[in-house]
Amino acid sequence: MPEIILKNVAKRFGKFVAVDNLNLEIPSNSFITLLGPSGCGKTTTLRMIAGLETPTEGQISIDGKVVFDADQGINLPPNKRDVGFLFQNYALWPHMTVYQNIAFGLENLKWDKKRIQARVKELLAMLRIEQFEKRYPSELSGGQQQRVAIARTLAPGPKVLFMDEPLSNLDAKLRMEMRTELKRLHRDTDSTFVYVTHDQLEAMTLSTKVCIMETGVLQQYAPPLEMYNNPANLFVADFMGNPTMNFIDGHLSGNGDVTFAGMKARFEGAEDLGDRDVVVGVRPEYIHIDEDGRQEATVYSTLPSGMETTVKLDVNGTSLTAVVFGDVDYPVDAKVKFDFHKAAVLFDKGSGKNIGRGKLTLA
Ligand SMILES: Nc1ncnc2c1ncn2[C@@H]1O[C@H](COP(=O)(O)OP(=O)(O)O)[C@@H](O)[C@H]1O
Ligand SMILES: [Mg+2]
Repeated sequence: MPEIILKNVAKRFGKFVAVDNLNLEIPSNSFITLLGPSGCGKTTTLRMIAGLETPTEGQISIDGKVVFDADQGINLPPNKRDVGFLFQNYALWPHMTVYQNIAFGLENLKWDKKRIQARVKELLAMLRIEQFEKRYPSELSGGQQQRVAIARTLAPGPKVLFMDEPLSNLDAKLRMEMRTELKRLHRDTDSTFVYVTHDQLEAMTLSTKVCIMETGVLQQYAPPLEMYNNPANLFVADFMGNPTMNFIDGHLSGNGDVTFAGMKARFEGAEDLGDRDVVVGVRPEYIHIDEDGRQEATVYSTLPSGMETTVKLDVNGTSLTAVVFGDVDYPVDAKVKFDFHKAAVLFDKGSGKNIGRGKLTLA
């Protein structure tokens, strides 16, 4: 079982710290996403696990075998790590057919012809590209080429598959389709997927667990919905979700009452958090517009998309974003009422850390 364990892994380029003391356990058969803004160290992390980049410090093991250890001087090359790669620029061999592209790596591994034939057929079927077997890459669309690249990577049956933004060259519709395919593929192979993306939606929808980084530092490692509902800090809360969470400066008094944006509410479970400045985090879909709502607001603008409408509200001079599901709309400057549903998150104003999650009830 290819469990990957990173212990105190760091990568420095001169004085610059690209990845800082990373500890991570990737369970076998999981679909892990490394997520974060450009330059946060995702690719470097992936390359270190794969053996394409030498860490400055730490230890990496795959499947119980130490593949890198800075202190012991162990550093196995990529081809000894039983891993496969799929990068953004999936260069297929232009002079080879689809069949030959997929078979090529297996021939290099000296598989016998019958076994190669059976494996290529299996992959052509799995990726639904049987009909393109004899075509050349130039005769395929971007999405079809991408499938061939995936088939080629999967061919030797790597225990771990690394993917670095493999869908970023595709158009939006195709990207969506390929996400579905990748998720399905993950189920159909018994490989562990380690996937890099800067797209929070991609990470949310694909992964079993997301590892979110900022400037080389791990911020949170959790299943996507847990991260969405209970983000570790303001950075994670802001990065996950679109439209983003509302962040409202407020003050918590020792008894669990929180005042913010001219409102007063009871924050369930905040009784022991003390008297302090906080940031109240509320997901847009948890602002529930309803004629029975306790709090009045003015509609500033609306963005109806058919399936849902994003509503910018003015609440005592503070701007809040609400999302209403369905094809509803409101006139600009209309007076509406709302309540908070489900749960809100309290962040400490100073550190930005999540200090509690609970229901907000307007006084
Ligand atoms: N070979 C290198 N030499 C110097 N700096 C590098 C090198 N490779 C990456 N970096 C720096 O390390 C940081 C992390 O890079 P990278 O892992 O590629 O980020 P990401 O994939 O999250 O966009 C970036 O600031 C990048 O400029
Ligand atoms: Mg990158």
